[in-house]
Amino acid sequence: MNTVHVSASGSYDIVIGQGLLPSIGERMKAFDKAQKITIVSDDNVYPLYGDVVKASLESAGYEVSVFVFPHGERSKCLTTYGELLEFMDEKHLSRSDMIAALGGGVTGDLAGFAAATYQRGIRFVQIPTSLLAMVDSSVGGKTAVDLSHSKNQVGCFWQPSLVLIDTDTLQTLPEAEYRCGCAEIIKYGILGNRTLFDEIRAVPVRDQAEHVITVCVSMKRDTVEQDEFDRGERMKLNLGHTLGHVAEALSDFTTLHGQAVAMGMAAITRIAFKQGICSEETLTETLDILEAYGLPTDMPYTADQMVDIMLTDKKVAGGTLRVIIPEKIGYCRIDSVPASELKSWLTSGGIR
Ligand SMILES: NC(=O)c1ccc[n+]([C@@H]2O[C@H](COP(=O)([O-])OP(=O)(O)OC[C@H]3O[C@@H](n4cnc5c(N)ncnc54)[C@H](O)[C@@H]3O)[C@@H](O)[C@H]2O)c1
Ligand SMILES: [Zn+2]
Repeated sequence: MNTVHVSASGSYDIVIGQGLLPSIGERMKAFDKAQKITIVSDDNVYPLYGDVVKASLESAGYEVSVFVFPHGERSKCLTTYGELLEFMDEKHLSRSDMIAALGGGVTGDLAGFAAATYQRGIRFVQIPTSLLAMVDSSVGGKTAVDLSHSKNQVGCFWQPSLVLIDTDTLQTLPEAEYRCGCAEIIKYGILGNRTLFDEIRAVPVRDQAEHVITVCVSMKRDTVEQDEFDRGERMKLNLGHTLGHVAEALSDFTTLHGQAVAMGMAAITRIAFKQGICSEETLTETLDILEAYGLPTDMPYTADQMVDIMLTDKKVAGGTLRVIIPEKIGYCRIDSVPASELKSWLTSGGIR
């Protein structure tokens, strides 16, 4: 078992290991005063892990209520958020009570935003069960829900009080979701950790999950402690995401996030190579590891289609696009591309 401590606007432990779910009740007892806890989970995850979490909390003396919503990004919306707040109110949760988010990033973002805003903010714990949530969304305090046409458009920064990562839950994660988590882990390697990159090249993530997750959350911790509110260094975590988000939007969100990030990382590295920013070896290593993890490396959209989407962002139209460019495995820099040069910039990397 490993523990990583975060000191941001809130300070908390991230505990990573096997067989941790039954210990959640005892661990939460450290938070004095809370008497009631609402478990928030989706209809895939709750049937798998809900009973053990609920039993652990009840045996620690908490009065537990359960809010289960239909799985998927569509539930990360104002409607479910409103239903959750009404539910907490019906259960008479007070400011000293808590929320436990049991599930993937959708659950964590939704439950975190409800915790941040119910009675001007109550504490919450993250119990991430997807690989993506374990290495990324459960740490750092970004909470949000989507609007009809824009992802994460309503939210705030609200740090959890504890993150409990039980790697045993990965056993039931669908293969495609596992690969999406691997895309984010590969991202951490490329943006700032050559050793991690080599380790996951040599041994599959699932065979060293506890170690890999510990390394990733430590990197995220370092970034969040330096730039909690995303004004500089934290932007580097967006490697592959700028073009990835465009691919996600063009697929009408049928392409999974991690797959789109893989396409985005491959595309940006091709551009970096063509512009002499990274070596051919860096490009080959990047494409090879993405392929080894069963992730896509071709961008199936044209530069015109991509530019159209990019220019719908008011910050980009008439201005510049901020991009994270790999210089080598383990080091990236933040660059700007003028809106007027976006098309030639994309085509320079082989996008038609
Ligand atoms: N807050 C942040 O900093 C941050 C960072 C990255 C992503 N996100 C958000 O995270 C979300 C994506 O997260 P995600 O990929 O975890 O999505 P998700 O929560 O929808 O989980 C993916 C799927 O896996 C299922 N699942 C999760 N754990 C399981 C398990 N152990 N066994 C079986 N099935 C399981 C879920 O029910 C769901 O169907 C997006 O909304 C994204 O915006 C937030
Ligand atoms: Zn991501």
